[in-house]
Parts: sequence; structure tokens; C-alpha cells
Amino acid sequence: MKVRLENLAKQFGKILAVNNLNLTVRKNELLAVIGPSGCGKTTLLRLIAGLEAPDRGTIYLENKILFSKEKGIFVPPYRRKVGMVFQNYTLWPHMDIFHNIAYPLKIKRAKRNTVKREVERALSLVRLNHITKRYPHEISGGEQQRVALARALVMNPEILLLDEPLSNLDAKLREEMRFEIKRIQKETKLTVIYVTHDQNEAMAIADRIAVMRDGSLIQVDTPRKIYNYPKTEFVARFIGRTNLISCQVKEIGGKKVIELDGVVIKIDGIGDIPAGKRMFSIRPEDIKLTRKGEGGVGEIKSIIYLGNIVNYKLSIGSTDLEVQTTPAEVFEVGERVYLNICHATPVDQCP
Ligand SMILES: Nc1ncnc2c1ncn2[C@@H]1O[C@H](COP(=O)(O)OP(=O)(O)OP(=O)(O)O)[C@@H](O)[C@H]1O
Ligand SMILES: [Mg+2]
Repeated sequence: MKVRLENLAKQFGKILAVNNLNLTVRKNELLAVIGPSGCGKTTLLRLIAGLEAPDRGTIYLENKILFSKEKGIFVPPYRRKVGMVFQNYTLWPHMDIFHNIAYPLKIKRAKRNTVKREVERALSLVRLNHITKRYPHEISGGEQQRVALARALVMNPEILLLDEPLSNLDAKLREEMRFEIKRIQKETKLTVIYVTHDQNEAMAIADRIAVMRDGSLIQVDTPRKIYNYPKTEFVARFIGRTNLISCQVKEIGGKKVIELDGVVIKIDGIGDIPAGKRMFSIRPEDIKLTRKGEGGVGEIKSIIYLGNIVNYKLSIGSTDLEVQTTPAEVFEVGERVYLNICHATPVDQCP
């Protein structure tokens, strides 16, 4: 365990920005926090960094208490060993790169050779040793991003908090920087909490993903678990594309099936779901289509051919389904095809 949050809460007027939140982030773990705008992601990071005082709860770093309302403890930000890159970070325009990164050390009155050594260490972590004398306007957006990262790393933090650190970059650079952050995390064995809007980014680099909504954590799991076993409708919808359908679970001849608008569809991998009406999340790629077969029949309503994948809209009675297949076999609009569902997850409707 590295960071532990217990019953953490922060209210702004009537808004519960962080609502009784419990979370443990492990040593050397990269936890991505995702959720809609205004759900409390930045507030959560600011509470951990000590830039904001919680109304309730406790924050631990290992076994040390950083904040406790009950015990009246508040460790100030500069003594927390927490580095942060803000959502709208700014570099000092009148300082060269070296001095931008050295700034936090200078404030702490570090010795001259310590400053030099630590700045060089931070610069080599982000692979920017060659541009120390340039000014922020003389380097690219991606390089500026690295400087901001180096400035957070220069104090040797144990926890790195990143608030949408790549949102100013174009798609290609973002992808490059994602892997840089992952590399730095591995090299430094840092614990990283990484806030992002971008679900692909979260899937690509996180050890675990925390999905947040209205100040609460809805699900915290590995990317695979979040994708394959979303617990709620909200999580299923928020990560990836999915079909959310309400249907009857039945057992026919010892096998589980679902009934959708009177059509019986064979389904694998739903485990011990009791018979009855349930809401399911079914990913488009988990529906297999065949011309010959058994089970439920649907009609192809539309097709989008993308080369490596083919997307269909299908209807079964009054229910529409999205299906994604490989182009091995391409079906035509109007064709009637058999459906097999190889994976479905029951989801709670709220939240
Ligand atoms: N200092 C503040 N004073 C009043 N309300 C605030 C303050 N900071 C945040 N809030 C409110 O708290 C809620 C959570 O804000 P927060 O910035 O944590 O959201 P977020 O998840 O980071 O959103 P985004 O994805 O847009 O950055 C919002 O409703 C916001 O308006
Ligand atoms: Mg934010």
C-alpha cells in the first residue's frame, strides 16, 4: 500500500466534489482515474497533494497520516513527497528550461550542486538533457510537457499526480508520451495517479482504472476487468462501445439462453445468473454472426466496412444491436443471420 484514502469528502457549497471516497493505490502502481467532466477528479488530486483540505476522512502515505480531520493532522503540500502536473500547467516564460525545473528546489534553498545534480537527473528521466538553455517558447509542445513532468520529478516524489497531462498534445504525440510516462514510472518505481478523459489512454497504460462519477468511485479494476466485467451500466457505457439490453435469462436443456423480443439466443460466459429479467452489457465484438446455424435470427440493417473491421447494425424484433466482426465473411443489408453471443455481463442499472 502506498496511498490510502478513507472516507474522504470535500464539498464546495452544495456540490459534493468528493463523496465519501475509499481508495488504496499500491506501490509502483499506475492508477488511471476517469470520469465525466466535473465528477471530482482534479479535486481528488488536490486533496492528495494537500492543495485543498478535505472536510472529512483520512489520507495515508504508507503508514504516515498526511491528513486526518479527526486527529487534526494536515501535512503541508511541500512536505508530502507528492509531485503534480496540473491540467493547465504553465512553465515560467522568462526562465530557461534548467531554471524552470530547478525552481521547486530553489524555493527549498537546496545547495547549488544538489540543484544541478537533481535537475540533470530529472532531465535525463524525460530525455531532455540537450535543451537546458532554451526558453519555453523555443521548444515544442511535447517538450514543454516533458519539462512540466521533469519539474514534478525533480523533488524525488513518492507519488506522482498527473491531471490530464497530455490534453494539449496532438494524437500522435499523446501516444508517444503515454509510453514515456509508463517508462518513467517503471524506472523510478513511482506510484502514479493519472487523470484522463481519454479511455484509450487509461486502457493503454494503467495497471488499474478507477471510474468516477459525482464524487464517488463506481468501479476500480484492471483494464481487462473494467472492459469485460463492467459492474454498472454507466461503466459499460463509459469504456468502449456496448449494447445494453434488457432480456430474459432462461435455462433450456441445461444451457443458459437469453430471450430478446421472443427470439432465443445462445449465450456463453454469463456464469451463474439466475433465470429472470436482467440488464446485460454485450460488446459488439462478442456477437458472432453466421449464415448457417441455430438460435436467434436477426436482420442486417446497415453496414460500415472499415477494412480491418466491419460494423453492423442489426435488429431483432424492436431491439437494435451493434455488431463488430472481421471482414472474413461480409453480410449484406437485408440478410437474415444467426447470432451467437460469446460473452455478456449483467450490469446494475444505477449508477
Ligand atoms: N474551488 C472550487 N470552488 C467551487 N466549486 C469547485 C471548486 N473546485 C471544483 N469545484 C466544483 O467541484 C466539482 C468537481 O470539480 P473538479 O474540478 O474536481 O472536476 P473534474 O472531474 O476534474 O472535471 P474536468 O474533467 O472538467 O477537469 C465541479 O462541480 C466543480 O465545479
Ligand atoms: Mg479536472
